[in-house]
Amino acid sequence: MAILVTGGAGFIGSNFVLDWLTHEQQPVVVLDKLTYAGNPENLKSIHQDPRFTFVRGDIADRALTSRLLAEHSIQAVVNFAAESHVDRSILGPGEFIQTNVVGTFELLEAVRAYWGGLDASARDAFRFLHVSTDEVYGSLDADAPAFTETHRYEPNSPYSASKAASDHLVRAYHHTYGVPVLTTNCSNNYGPYHFPEKLIPLMILNALAGKPLPVYGDGKNVRDWLYVTDHCSAIRRVLAAGKPGHVYNVGGNNEMTNLEVVQTLCTMLDALRPLPAGRSYWEQVTFVKDRPGHDRRYAIDASLLERELGWKPAETFESGIRKTVAWYLANPQWVEGVVSGNYREWVARQYGS
Ligand code: NAD
Ligand code: TYD
Repeated sequence: MAILVTGGAGFIGSNFVLDWLTHEQQPVVVLDKLTYAGNPENLKSIHQDPRFTFVRGDIADRALTSRLLAEHSIQAVVNFAAESHVDRSILGPGEFIQTNVVGTFELLEAVRAYWGGLDASARDAFRFLHVSTDEVYGSLDADAPAFTETHRYEPNSPYSASKAASDHLVRAYHHTYGVPVLTTNCSNNYGPYHFPEKLIPLMILNALAGKPLPVYGDGKNVRDWLYVTDHCSAIRRVLAAGKPGHVYNVGGNNEMTNLEVVQTLCTMLDALRPLPAGRSYWEQVTFVKDRPGHDRRYAIDASLLERELGWKPAETFESGIRKTVAWYLANPQWVEGVVSGNYREWVARQYGS
């Protein structure tokens, strides 16, 4: 029996698949549409692993997901597939509704039919784990307590609204049909294979390329940062021991302003790749127009996950950001492929349009 990982060629999904095959025996089927954010290079190191199968396709294709569930006797679905970038959702929300809402609905329908046809013990063992975000809870004031799982939903961007809608569908499929679902709401991830449209990889690559480091507004927006392999271990833990129908917040206890994050990166790069004449990458910081509706602060209370399932992050921000910067410096080929769009050409050749 295998697990089905949707969106497994993206940033967190690919880290999860690599992490899974290191820690578990069960085979993995990755279903990924390979949008601009999906990169098969992320999974290159496991192409020869007999436990790994890759299928290019859309979670909204119910016939395809129904076939994969049955053919591979899927025991668990981990749903990462999504449009994930807030700025893109502001420019064009349509794809976000299509994948995050309609796609999740179609996937749930396929799962409901498949799960309903399993024998009693397989039904008990089956899990649908939906990977969601802290952004569904909205924005916090500076002194407000961190989000708990019961915080009301107040999504502010088309991205977070579409994720909130998918969370509600997942909840309803448990409440109404009894599908054994789990939902995780995680804070901002960082680490290897992060597409350079998001803050941390964008700043690292722009700094090295001598480009401006664009900080939105006053740079004092606060995010909680979690190293991606800690998110992966949390998902494995929730999958193994989480209670069906329950929601678990996942966070790093690492609240930082964007300026603090950029400052840390510049200091690290100044030491690892010094600029001539004692100059600093910090000189490249440029304050730009703020993102419309920009959430001021996210903070996650992950104490339920620690109390009930014994999960804690292994990395501090210090150790995680060091690994991240080192990874980007050590992988210029991956960076070049992403920045030049070479992998898009390869995807077109390999999979057609
Ligand atoms: P990503 O954008 O890097 O990857 C998304 C992946 O999904 C890509 O491989 C893409 O090709 C694939 N995909 C998109 N539409 C699809 C479709 N219709 N069918 C099949 N595959 C499709 O995103 P990420 O940062 O890895 O995030 C993964 C999940 O985790 C998302 O659901 C996101 O909401 C959630 N999340 C992300 C963060 C974060 O900081 N990145 C934090 C919390 C939660
Ligand atoms: P991002 O990585 O897009 O994640 P999210 O918006 O989902 O939290 O952005 C993280 C923070 O960094 C957010 O407050 C917006 C800010 N930001 C910038 O200041 N400049 C940038 O170029 C980007 C991409 C983000």
